[in-house]
Amino acid sequence: MKHFTSVNQLTKEEVYSLLEMAEALKGNPLPLQKQLFVANLFYEPSTRTKMSFTVAERKLGMEILDFHQDSSSAAKGETLYDTAKTFESIGADMLVIRHASDSWMQELQNGISIPILNAGAGKAEHPTQCMLDLLTIYQEFGSFRGLQITIAGDIKHSRVAKSNADALSRLGAIVSFSAAPEFMEASHPYPYISMDEAARSSDIVMLLRIQHERHCDEGDYVDYLERYGLTKEREKQMLPHAIIMHPAPVNRNVEIDASLVECERSRIFKQMKNGVYIRMAIIKKTLGEWGKLNETTIEKRQKAIISI
Ligand code: NCD
Repeated sequence: MKHFTSVNQLTKEEVYSLLEMAEALKGNPLPLQKQLFVANLFYEPSTRTKMSFTVAERKLGMEILDFHQDSSSAAKGETLYDTAKTFESIGADMLVIRHASDSWMQELQNGISIPILNAGAGKAEHPTQCMLDLLTIYQEFGSFRGLQITIAGDIKHSRVAKSNADALSRLGAIVSFSAAPEFMEASHPYPYISMDEAARSSDIVMLLRIQHERHCDEGDYVDYLERYGLTKEREKQMLPHAIIMHPAPVNRNVEIDASLVECERSRIFKQMKNGVYIRMAIIKKTLGEWGKLNETTIEKRQKAIISI
């Protein structure tokens, strides 16, 4: 693994081994044995992703270099590439990046010589969210094969929909979408079903918020919940074992009835908890593959000299 930009770059075996590693890290969060610096470069708002990366990094004993877009040189026009290059120059060992561009990874990955983890790329990819969702489903069902999963909401503008649909179907799940006509994306190979059908037939109903910041359409979403969301009535139609997921932030009473956010079927807060462990696993795997967890030859020599 070079930079971690997409779940597509992982083999199925690597996906499962990261899920197992995340489970193991829950009980045994041993800090790394080296001083390693990380910068979290978030150019879009974030609560869960940024903070769970922060907790994961701290649990691993990493030093976090402070970055806030508004008080950084980004506010003076510095590009993402030059900012990333700056952090590399001053000694960062890893970058975690979220940016509104769909393709920032392509622009960065050749010029930057430290690992980059994708914490969200425009409408294109959100691989760490996908991995924490896979972990949550794996804990619940023990496998992905044959699971009926409906991803419902603003499919067209959601990076979570794309990352999750592709990864889940590669692992053997049967993925459907459900969306208002303006939020459908024709270029995907997944069938669209109504929310009534989704509620009745799915093992997992995965809801998404309307991505207002990615389209100018003010829209009239007054009856959105009744037409396209998970209402209390639809929840009653769900299969006995079926669960509700949502990457959050949740807009209560828009895509989901407020009372369902913390209901028995909901795994929304479990997803957040899993985000810490899967990010620890991804960080460890990436740093390991870059040789950053191993002692350098110089360190080995220094130790040898000291022990003489
Ligand atoms: C998602 C995102 O940023 O894409 N949130 C998250 O990372 N937990 C979903 C969203 O913003 O709707």
